[in-house]
Amino acid sequence: MARLDITETFCNILFPGHMHTQDSLSYATNFKFQDTDTLIVTYPKSGTTWIQEIITLVLSKGDPTIAQTQPNWARAPWLEQYYCPKFLEASMGPRIITTHLPYHLLAPALQDSKAKVIYVARNPKDVVVSYYHFHKMANFLPDPGSFTEFLSAFLKGTVHYGSWFDHIKGWIGHAKDIQNFLYITYEEMWQDLHSSLEKVSCFLQCSLTEDELTSSQKHCSFNSMKENAMVNYTLIPQEIMDHSKGKFMRRGKMGDWKNMFTEEQSDHFDAVYSSQMVESSLLFKWERPEDALQLMITINTPESHSLREIVKCS
Ligand code: A3P
Repeated sequence: MARLDITETFCNILFPGHMHTQDSLSYATNFKFQDTDTLIVTYPKSGTTWIQEIITLVLSKGDPTIAQTQPNWARAPWLEQYYCPKFLEASMGPRIITTHLPYHLLAPALQDSKAKVIYVARNPKDVVVSYYHFHKMANFLPDPGSFTEFLSAFLKGTVHYGSWFDHIKGWIGHAKDIQNFLYITYEEMWQDLHSSLEKVSCFLQCSLTEDELTSSQKHCSFNSMKENAMVNYTLIPQEIMDHSKGKFMRRGKMGDWKNMFTEEQSDHFDAVYSSQMVESSLLFKWERPEDALQLMITINTPESHSLREIVKCS
């Protein structure tokens, strides 16, 4: 399946035709989740591959064999991509499934499900920079144009996979409607991988010894994953991902946006961000002046569901 220049539009959202068809997207929205499933939910470039690796290592109790022998898309396939049924049929044991779909498209399928849902969020300024560089190497995505043009499309929500704002507001806003839900950020994983591993292992009810945690941490580090062909996408042929134009495991940093945004772009982003999030009961903001990149969350309405409850795992 090449279809590199085809875009599928499904419920007004654009998807790369290389991996998506109308049938594959309908399959996802009508999916029958099992209570033993773990569903990873991310907006692209938010740390999807990282959490796939973390979950693999946790469930393997720190043994890197699976992480080093099975590509991430085979062990945690994207629900909406055409090859998903094939991998799920072949999977043994509890299924790990990944999705970039917005909440409203999966809400009916998840209703009453006890599947474990893990949502990973990342500072959207870093997301847009990572996404921009990814467009340059991924031949199944359109030419991003200049960064200014791409940023404008991102803020309007016209990029592939839709609006970042709708994605996060949809999933986090409905966290209370999902029986087993864990929220974690890229920034949290970056600042304290060990605690993040513990948090995930606790949520998955798969406790690890200190040695198993240490081994998991080693194999989930950026440097380790960068060299692991099962997650660094070097298995993907050049005509699909042009590795001469960039690396999938690019920087792996918090706050790389500062190297890309002008002051004017940053101010504009902040203004759009404020207006998009104003209606939301959840306000994401960069609160600590000493570390302006930390993605913090405040709950700003009395009726909003406490995030502490959402992430409670013991
Ligand atoms: P950058 O482009 O900023 O480097 P996704 O898997 O959702 O497509 O996200 C890819 C981003 O996550 C890339 O960001 C990649 O480098 C980063 N990433 C993947 N594994 C990581 C790790 N172990 N540590 C830090 N960042 C990681």
